[in-house]
Amino acid sequence: MKIANLEQLLGTLKKVSDDITKTLPFKTIHSFLDDLKQIKPTWPSLRIGNLVAPTPIVQGGMGVGISLSGLASAVANAGGIGVIAANAIGLLEKDYYKDGREANLRAFRREIRKARELTDGIIGVNIMVAVSDFHELLDLAIEEKVDIVFMGAGLPIKGLPVEKIRKNGVKIAPIVSSARATEMIFKMWKKIYNDVPDAVVFEGPKAGGHLGFTEEQLDDPAFQVEAIVPEIAKVLTPYGEEFSRQIPLIAGGGVYSGEDIYQVLQAGAQGVQMATRFVATDECDADIRFKEAYINCTKEDIGIIKSPVGMPGRAIRNKFITDTEAGVRPAFTCAWKCLSSCKAEDAKYCISIALNNARRGVLQGGFVFAGTNAYRIKEIVPVRALISELATGYWIAERQKVSSKLENLVTSLQKLADRYKDLQTQVIELGKAYEQAITTPSALMEKVSLSELREKYVSTQAKARKLQLKMVEKLMASWFLLEPQAV
Ligand SMILES: Cc1cc2nc3c(=O)[nH]c(=O)nc-3n(C[C@H](O)[C@H](O)[C@H](O)COP(=O)(O)O)c2cc1C
Repeated sequence: MKIANLEQLLGTLKKVSDDITKTLPFKTIHSFLDDLKQIKPTWPSLRIGNLVAPTPIVQGGMGVGISLSGLASAVANAGGIGVIAANAIGLLEKDYYKDGREANLRAFRREIRKARELTDGIIGVNIMVAVSDFHELLDLAIEEKVDIVFMGAGLPIKGLPVEKIRKNGVKIAPIVSSARATEMIFKMWKKIYNDVPDAVVFEGPKAGGHLGFTEEQLDDPAFQVEAIVPEIAKVLTPYGEEFSRQIPLIAGGGVYSGEDIYQVLQAGAQGVQMATRFVATDECDADIRFKEAYINCTKEDIGIIKSPVGMPGRAIRNKFITDTEAGVRPAFTCAWKCLSSCKAEDAKYCISIALNNARRGVLQGGFVFAGTNAYRIKEIVPVRALISELATGYWIAERQKVSSKLENLVTSLQKLADRYKDLQTQVIELGKAYEQAITTPSALMEKVSLSELREKYVSTQAKARKLQLKMVEKLMASWFLLEPQAV
C-alpha cells in the first residue's frame, strides 16, 4: 500500500513533468523517472576501513555458545558481520573443569577456523574485557587474523597490543553505553597508542544480556539509541578528522525491524547491532529449546535480573530466576575464576553455568538472555530470510519518507503547472491579437493602444518564463530527493 502510494506519486510527477517539459528539452528528467521504476530494495553498506559489509548489520556476539561459527558464518554469508562470542566458550569442551583457560582457547580457535571455512564474508569476535583470560583470547583472535574484535563489558584501554593488531590487519570496535565512555577510550588510545579504534558499537538499554546502565536509566528517553547516537557521533567526528578515517558508529538494543534499522541510521549511525532476532534462526548455535523460549515468551516475561557479575541483565524471567532471587542457591563448582571480579563463594549462582544450561536447552537449570522485543518473534527462520525481511522493511520505510516529501513537491508543482497552462493560453491569444493589430490596425479595440497590447504580451511571456524556471526548480528538487535511492 505504502509503496503503491509512492508509485502513484511518481506517476503524477511524470505526468506533470511531461506537461511542463513538452516545451523544454528535459529528456534526462523523463529517463530518470523511468529508471526509478527499476530500483531494487537496497540499503547502505557498512564500511569499517577496508571492510565493506553490504548488509549494514553486525550480529551481536552472544556468549556461552549462542553465537558460534554456525550463526556467524550464516550472517557473514548474508552480507552482514557475523560474530563469534568468546565468553565461556570452553564450556563446549569436556575438560573445561580441568583447565578452563585452555578449553576456552581451544574452542575459540576451532570456531574461528570453522567459520572461515564456511564463509568468505566478514567474521568478527566478541571478547569481554572483564574476563580473566581477556588478553589470551585477544592474542588468539589477532593470531587468527579475524576481521574485527568487538570488546565490551569494560573499557578496552590499557595493555592492548595495538601494533600487532595493526600488523595483522585486525579492526577494533569497543562496545559502549555512553558518549562519555567513548570519549575516554578515544582520548586514552590517542595518548597511549597514537591511534584510535576503527568503529564503535553503542549498545542501548533495550538490549538483551548484560546492560551498561542502572535500572533507573533503562526506560529514560535520555539513554535511548536516538538520544545517544548523535552524542557519540559528535565525539567521533574530530577523531575521524585527526586520524583521516571514517569511524562508523553501530548502534543496537531492541532493533527489531527494517524500519527500526532505518530509524537508527537516520539518527546518525552507519550500522546496527542485532542479537535477539538472530536467536530465532535455523543457524543459531543454541539448542532448539532456547530458541523456542523466545517464540513462547510474552512481553511480560521479559524482565531485568540482577546478575551475579554486578550488572543488570535482560532475560526471559523463569522459575530459576525467581527461585534464586528468593534465596535458593543451586550447588555449583567453580571451574576457575573466569571473571576477574567474581567471588564464587558469595555468588547466588554461577552465571556461566546457568547460561550454558540454557544453551543446552536445560532451562530449569538456567535462563535465556533476550532483548525487549523477543516476544514479537513468532517463528524460527533461516538467516537469509530474516535479512531479506529486514531489507524490505528498510526499503519501505525509506520510500515512505520520500513519499511524504514528494507529495508536497508534486502538489505545488501541479499548481504551478495549472497556472503555467493559463499563462500559455493568454500568451497565445495576446500574440494573435498583437499580430492582428499590426497587420490590420482597424481590428484594434478602441480602448487598447498598440503599445499597451505589446507591453501586456511581453509581460505575460515574461511571467510564463519565470514560472517555467520555478517549475524546473521544483522538478530538480524532486530529482535530488529521489536520487539517493537510485544509487
Ligand atoms: C542471548 C544473548 C547473549 C548475549 N551475550 C553477549 C556477550 O557475551 N557479550 C556481549 O558483549 N553482548 C552480549 N549480548 C548482547 C548482544 O550482543 C547485543 O548487543 C544486544 O543483545 C542487542 O540487542 P537486541 O538483542 O535487542 O538486538 C547478548 C545478548 C543476548 C540476547
